[in-house]
Amino acid sequence: MPSIEQALQQACQFGPGCPQRLGDAIRYAVLAPGKRLRPALVLMAAEACGGTHAAAMPGAVAVEMIHAYSLIHDDLPAMDDDDLRRGRPTVHIEFDEATAILAGDALQPLAIAHLCRHVTDPARAAQAVQILATAAGPEHLVGGQADDLAAESGPPPQTDSSDVEGADEQVAASNRIQSNPIESDVELIQRWGGTHRALEFLESIHRRKTGALFAASLDLGAVLSDASDSQRAALAAYAADIGLAFQVVDDLLDHTADETRMGKRVGKDAGRGKLTYPGLMGIDQARVRAAELIESAQQHTTPFGSAAGRLNQLAHYVLQRSH
Ligand code: IPE
Ligand code: IPE
Ligand code: MG
Ligand code: MG
Ligand code: MG
Repeated sequence: MPSIEQALQQACQFGPGCPQRLGDAIRYAVLAPGKRLRPALVLMAAEACGGTHAAAMPGAVAVEMIHAYSLIHDDLPAMDDDDLRRGRPTVHIEFDEATAILAGDALQPLAIAHLCRHVTDPARAAQAVQILATAAGPEHLVGGQADDLAAESGPPPQTDSSDVEGADEQVAASNRIQSNPIESDVELIQRWGGTHRALEFLESIHRRKTGALFAASLDLGAVLSDASDSQRAALAAYAADIGLAFQVVDDLLDHTADETRMGKRVGKDAGRGKLTYPGLMGIDQARVRAAELIESAQQHTTPFGSAAGRLNQLAHYVLQRSH
């Protein structure tokens, strides 16, 4: 049984039709030292449902391919414009922008083809493809990314604070309830017409840009293990909590973490005007929110008993992680 690392390596070998430079860029991105959280979740969900790692591995590889593409594109100059990822120059810096775009393009059909090829039961393969492609699509990952970028320039027209009666009062009330108002960005909150509205939009962004792929990971592990509907529902509830918590912690780490340890630039979100949890709630309250989500995630694993031991550990890690 190959490890996730070996399975990814095997999946990134291409025939003569793939130009050397494109293949190199794909391998550079996928095989870089990522945490492999999403593939780990696929395998842990399979464990919880009594399935095997072998049956779930195609899902693990495919979800990491989608994740790797999303990082390549997220770092592009037109998006977050980052030059460091996983401790190395980003793909567009190491190669060039066109190659980075194309490597990301290639990884998406590769992920789908990988599922079709390696999930032997055609109905199960179609189900897995639907789960992953939906999570990666315009209503989820890509939609969340689009709104994340749009939010840099303020609220969308329908939530423009100038149209909202009582926005000033709401801002004042929001500021009073901050446990640590000095750490939240009062100007950002003002721009959004109050903490409540901004948080609602931010949660929707995080659930789509990050949470959806976490949800797909758990669901892939479940369906590739013949899970019951109730097992899938419990894992979906766990995933919703852990996916949001993961991005809340990512926002926190952007404020507080060490760049060398993270392997990516930090301290950029505020500068770009991004909506983030610490920006809206302050660091302390954002930590509380993440902890609540993790506690809730762990409660959703109860029906699985000891088979969910690693899912519980992973939830704990998501909260405690320092990179
Ligand atoms: C980074 O994800 C992108 C976010 C959704 C915040 P990870 O922190 O899982 O990145 P890698 O895979 O370990 O590099
Ligand atoms: C990235 O979110 C989400 C996706 C790639 C889909 P961020 O922009 O916060 O991730 P980092 O901080 O660059 O890793
Ligand atoms: Mg981004
Ligand atoms: Mg980014
Ligand atoms: Mg981030």
